[in-house]
Amino acid sequence: MPPRIAILPGDGIGPEVIDEAVKVLQAAGVAADFEFALIGGAAIDATGVPLPDETLELCRQSDAVLLGAVGGPKWDTLEPAHLRPEVGALLPLRRELNLYANVRPARTMRPLVHASPLKEGRSMIDLIVVRELTGGIYFGERFRKDDGKTAIDTAVYTRAEVERITLRAFEIARQRRHQVVSVDKANVLETSRLWRETVNDLAAQNPDISVTHMLVDNCAMQLVRDPGQFDVILTENMFGDILSDEASMITGSLGLLPSASLSDANGDKVFGLYEPIHGSAPDIAGQSRANPLAAILSAAMMMRFTFGDGRTADRIEAAVEAALDEGLRTADIFENETRLVSTTEMGDAVAAKLRP
Ligand code: IPM
Ligand code: MG
Repeated sequence: MPPRIAILPGDGIGPEVIDEAVKVLQAAGVAADFEFALIGGAAIDATGVPLPDETLELCRQSDAVLLGAVGGPKWDTLEPAHLRPEVGALLPLRRELNLYANVRPARTMRPLVHASPLKEGRSMIDLIVVRELTGGIYFGERFRKDDGKTAIDTAVYTRAEVERITLRAFEIARQRRHQVVSVDKANVLETSRLWRETVNDLAAQNPDISVTHMLVDNCAMQLVRDPGQFDVILTENMFGDILSDEASMITGSLGLLPSASLSDANGDKVFGLYEPIHGSAPDIAGQSRANPLAAILSAAMMMRFTFGDGRTADRIEAAVEAALDEGLRTADIFENETRLVSTTEMGDAVAAKLRP
């Protein structure tokens, strides 16, 4: 049976960039069943809820999920908040599919090194943020009391949750420079002290990995001071949310960054959801101005992690670099002496390099 890939285009530029990613997978010769389903605002408009049961069921029956982006001004003010696309679709999807390991690489692409807001020479970065995605303050109890005048959010972590994400970070570091910086706020938070203890115990059992600890405020500073020092950053859900945005900005090319959200391995396959880091960008939706490269590179990550097909992933990544080397640029990364292309032209150019 061919592998089954659930395609969730979502809102705004989501459908535009996802079309290009599917085009590129097909050009690379990936023979899979691509099955489309609704999510986010598009699902709210069609069914009244941001994550319909059929969409969740399709994901459960697929080998991997490729997602565009969700959200937009039309649905931002829906009440209650769990009907909004971000909180109502992304969070339950992560939880229901047990996607506890969020992998966000941030790498400077040589042709785009000038786009970094950091001084030249400081800006070459090649790191991966491994963010715990189904625990912590995102999923703890939250409520109001005293007539709505007091708000409470709770951060909860168990040792088992910290162990599995730490082992995943070690595995990823093993494919790279073997260096893990675990980021926490152990000078204040009890969850961070449990985090640090657990990471230290696992570090002792995995002497091939160099493990150090950094407080999150210092890490935010080090990322702009000297981002080249990092290989793998391992951290909890909310710190990872913030630090991964910071890391992606430093590369200067948000529109190029992919991500994976992984569950447990099943044999040699890992179920995962793959999506660009960028959002739905409603301001440029429908104009073929979006950069499809993050979605295309997310599809490459899918080939590598879920299907164990590093060769196809490498080919897709090389095709993206080749298109950039030729000077093709979507509006977000356009500079003098490069050629401005549309979303579909960029996708076509990458696909053309992959066809036999
Ligand atoms: C992300 C996003 C989400 C998060 C939001 C949209 C709920 O910022 O994927 O980083 O905070 O996890
Ligand atoms: Mg975020």
